[in-house]
Amino acid sequence: MNILAVESSCDETAVAIVRDGREVLTDCIASQVALHREYGGVVPEIASRKHIEAIYGLADQALEEAGLTRDDIDAVAVTYAPGLIGAVLVGVNFAKAAAMAMGKPLIPVHHIRGHIAANYLAYPDLEPPFLCLVVSGGHTMIIEVKDYTDMRILGTTLDDAAGECFDKVGRVLGMPYPGGAALDKAAQQGDEKNYTLPVSKPGENPYNMSFSGLKTATLNLIHHADQVGEALDIPSLCAAFTAAVSETLVPRVVRALEETGYRKVAVAGGVAANSRIRHDILEAAEKLGATVYMPPLKLCGDNGAMIGAQAYYEYLAGNVADMSLNAYATKSILGEAL
Ligand code: KG4
Ligand code: ZN
Repeated sequence: MNILAVESSCDETAVAIVRDGREVLTDCIASQVALHREYGGVVPEIASRKHIEAIYGLADQALEEAGLTRDDIDAVAVTYAPGLIGAVLVGVNFAKAAAMAMGKPLIPVHHIRGHIAANYLAYPDLEPPFLCLVVSGGHTMIIEVKDYTDMRILGTTLDDAAGECFDKVGRVLGMPYPGGAALDKAAQQGDEKNYTLPVSKPGENPYNMSFSGLKTATLNLIHHADQVGEALDIPSLCAAFTAAVSETLVPRVVRALEETGYRKVAVAGGVAANSRIRHDILEAAEKLGATVYMPPLKLCGDNGAMIGAQAYYEYLAGNVADMSLNAYATKSILGEAL
């Protein structure tokens, strides 16, 4: 089954064609990152307009690259939530029009389920159940993937997402948007012991997390240094910040593995590209004899292929939509009725 998959929830317009949920025939992306960089973050109105400009050409490009025609497409999938509402709407409207014009089923996909499904592309043998740490620009969660479309949220951030904090700290340090990748690189040259930053303690739900205290403490430290004219050791500050994020995430993943008994853990989302977090999870999981699934960097960030992968399983579960499908800025990954 060839699924044409559309993703436009943030600042990447993406169209991919994925066969049977596992084989990427083509994965086309038009990134707007350089455009938003000028403003230090995503400007929603600009994102929507650029999605409209890019999406038709990308769909044609996807067919051409895969050597397919519209007749070879069996269904159209789209991210319908969550994301910047104007941006998601562009993809949803395009997908509805394409599905209607081709007379093919329309499959709505939750963006975070898509991130998890990036693992099915990277690891053809991976099947649920498993645990997944989702760390993106907008979400930070530990999820029990009981089946392809059956999930349980073990824990979530109570305030900021990890990626949001990377981007905010990166911005204040003068790094180009989005700050995560630049901060990761700088951290590799630093010594985390040069700064002490707070790590959130487990609360009532030991899997929940908080990053706002860490973000505020880091920003205060930077502003204070600026006010008193003190030179910052930026690589070491980045290293201490990244270590604190990792020390928030990894022990919770370890606890989840221990308490659930799972021995498979996947990571997903843009922050899953972070070298320190990847290293720490691998090391911790190895001690427990657990296998870690980490998609390659290009599948960690937003892309259309991950939407096409999840869409296949949504289709098999009967989760298709009609022309009344709407876009949603927020929606639970648990997938209540549309
Ligand atoms: O999953 P994603 O592409 O978009 C959302 O769905 O949010 O994640 C984007 C986030 C941004 O916050 C970006 O700074 C972060 O992923 N990111 C990283 C790294 N690469 C991307 N954060 C830390 N280290 C990285 N190497
Ligand atoms: Zn994403």
